[in-house]
Amino acid sequence: VNTLLCQAPQNISKDYLKFFAEREMNELRMRYPQLTILQNNQTQLIFSKIRNKDTPTAEFRHHADRIMRLLIETALNEQEIQVIKRETPCSYYDSSELRNPTDFVAVTIMRAGNSFLHELLRIMPDIDVGQILLQRDETTKEKRPILYYTKLPKRIQGRKVLLFDPMIATGGSVIKGIEELIKVGVQEQDITFVNLIACEKGIKKVLDLYPRIKIITGSVDPLLLEDSKYIAPGLGDFGDRYFGTN
Ligand code: URA
Repeated sequence: VNTLLCQAPQNISKDYLKFFAEREMNELRMRYPQLTILQNNQTQLIFSKIRNKDTPTAEFRHHADRIMRLLIETALNEQEIQVIKRETPCSYYDSSELRNPTDFVAVTIMRAGNSFLHELLRIMPDIDVGQILLQRDETTKEKRPILYYTKLPKRIQGRKVLLFDPMIATGGSVIKGIEELIKVGVQEQDITFVNLIACEKGIKKVLDLYPRIKIITGSVDPLLLEDSKYIAPGLGDFGDRYFGTN
């Protein structure tokens, strides 16, 4: 089953979604071992809240933050760790630690990617944060997004980058973000892209172009709506819903 381009979300049958969820997810996982789809009952419960068009802003933020925290923790689970002998108050233990915690850099793709900072800075309060502002050309949605602003930590070469953007539709923004990182000396294999919902077409495009990056996502949705380029079932415009500008 290929990703469908469809006109209206009503076209999505419940059976198709169930079929997609079971079969396509497994195929994707097998084809792209560098892709982690964080799908279990708990994440389904949270996604059900934020997908609902009637969920008000405060509740949307609360549940989006919950899932983003899980995604960030999963991204850390994918990093290299080292074991160091340390002491508890009464004995010794093998302490598992990130190999070089100060080597981590966060980069958000603005505006929606900034929503990850709330939870990220609780988990890693001293992480350096860079930002990339990209904007889709509204007249030619499929075309490459325009880069308006980049501010990255000066010493980024050789560091591990956690790249954040909650939605991958066509994949254009994240591809441009990765290009910018590689331009300043980040190694492809040092990039972990953290994402809430990906469209199947977009995620394949990104991973076929950059097979050495890691992707952590909460869901791979089957459809990309032809006119709006929204993901379906999706959740609408993430930035508008999270920041209350809808
Ligand atoms: N960006 C969003 O906020 N939502 C989509 O469905 C696709 C891109």
